[in-house]
Amino acid sequence: MIELKIMGDDVLKRQSSLVPKVDKKVRDLIEAMFETMYEGKGLGLAAPQIGELRRLFICQIPDDQPRIFVNPEIVQTSEDQVLLEEGCLSIPGVYAEVLRPRQVTVQAWNEHGKPFTINADGLLSRVIQHELDHLNGVLFVDRLNEKKRQRILKTYTKKVSA
Ligand code: NI
Repeated sequence: MIELKIMGDDVLKRQSSLVPKVDKKVRDLIEAMFETMYEGKGLGLAAPQIGELRRLFICQIPDDQPRIFVNPEIVQTSEDQVLLEEGCLSIPGVYAEVLRPRQVTVQAWNEHGKPFTINADGLLSRVIQHELDHLNGVLFVDRLNEKKRQRILKTYTKKVSA
């Protein structure tokens, strides 16, 4: 288990770089990320959350297989949007409803560097969008309106300093 980066750490606000090649090093990183995600009981984890600014995330939602996305790109989103509650291992104890497209089509590489395309909706679509945001230095609280964001961050600060 690797130490998770928590909100306030500058690394979570930065852009990640493309992964040039999926080699053993990257696969080791993926393995470490799964350990960390399962340990934290999260549904997804992006590389920047363990301090690695690389375009890579993993996820596993209930009743689904583990999924790996290297150099992911959203190529299509549905017009309709839905409110769903989100949390993040990097913002412990904070949950809020976030509005995002219902469905996404994503292109990425798998753990062997092989390209694939996936159409996702429901929880998987949500987790993919949340994790992909991490690769661009965006946290889910950044997607809330200012009032809601301030209120939530206040609760968070209270909890952290308690
Ligand atoms: Ni997150």
